[in-house]
Amino acid sequence: MSDTPDLAVRDLHVAVEGKEILKGLSVEVRKGEIHALMGPNGSGKSTLANTLMGHPRYEVTSGQILFKGQSILDMEPDERSRLGLFMAFQYPVAIPGVSVANFLRSALNARLAPSEKNGNGAMPRKKGIGPKEFRTLLKEQMGLLRMDETFAGRYLNDGFSGGEKKRAEILQMAILRPEIAIMDETDSGLDIDALRIVSEGVNALAGPHMGVLVITHYQRILDYIKPHFVHVIVDGRISLSGGAELALELENRGYDWVRDQDEVEAP
Ligand SMILES: Nc1ncnc2c1ncn2[C@@H]1O[C@H](COP(=O)(O)OP(=O)(O)OP(=O)(O)O)[C@@H](O)[C@H]1O
Ligand SMILES: [Mg+2]
Repeated sequence: MSDTPDLAVRDLHVAVEGKEILKGLSVEVRKGEIHALMGPNGSGKSTLANTLMGHPRYEVTSGQILFKGQSILDMEPDERSRLGLFMAFQYPVAIPGVSVANFLRSALNARLAPSEKNGNGAMPRKKGIGPKEFRTLLKEQMGLLRMDETFAGRYLNDGFSGGEKKRAEILQMAILRPEIAIMDETDSGLDIDALRIVSEGVNALAGPHMGVLVITHYQRILDYIKPHFVHVIVDGRISLSGGAELALELENRGYDWVRDQDEVEAP
């Protein structure tokens, strides 16, 4: 096994509408690892997630994002997804008229498609998974995640509760099998059942073939997902990293002491 991290973020600076939000952030995630990223509101957590997925509004002004040793900075979001990066959004959109099953099949076919596009920019159709094969896969994954079969026929996120949206995301992750998954959680609004759903899904999927970066505000979710690493982001940079125990310490002490520490340790 090579020691190249699957995802390496190096000294990343990102600006949104001319304002610098990330100010030299570095982090590495390997398959098999669960990382938790915590930090106060507005510290840049979602900015990092959006930048990793290639959202056009987030301008990388310097630094690197390497996926399996290759820079992905010039890649479109769909190319990043095909390489094996996945992002679960903090605020997923509803797509009325598109069922969960159809959405997932299209997403999987897009993920499996060869990277060259044809002339009009549409996805090539020759590769992909057939409807029957897909139904079997979907049924199997929904079974593993203990989801009701009727869920697959509902329109994506249309009238979904917070917990159901999370379930849909986890199912998407189970179908797409990314190598690195980034999960930007809005803990607020999720009840304890939804937290458990997310956690069980992550625990079931994370393993030697997948690494996870979980963005979260509360220790609560980390009672279910045991992170190998916890990072604290303050003002666009990681100011402290540690093991699972760091999340507990944050729960007890808040973020102010991390800020203080940052000032002491900054060169
Ligand atoms: N698209 C955008 N347009 C303008 N400002 C933005 C945009 N995205 C992020 N920002 C700004 O960047 C800063 C960091 O925001 P970000 O969403 O990354 O924080 P966060 O750590 O995810 O916060 P939270 O914990 O509240 O989710 C904020 O000041 C925010 O207003
Ligand atoms: Mg956020």
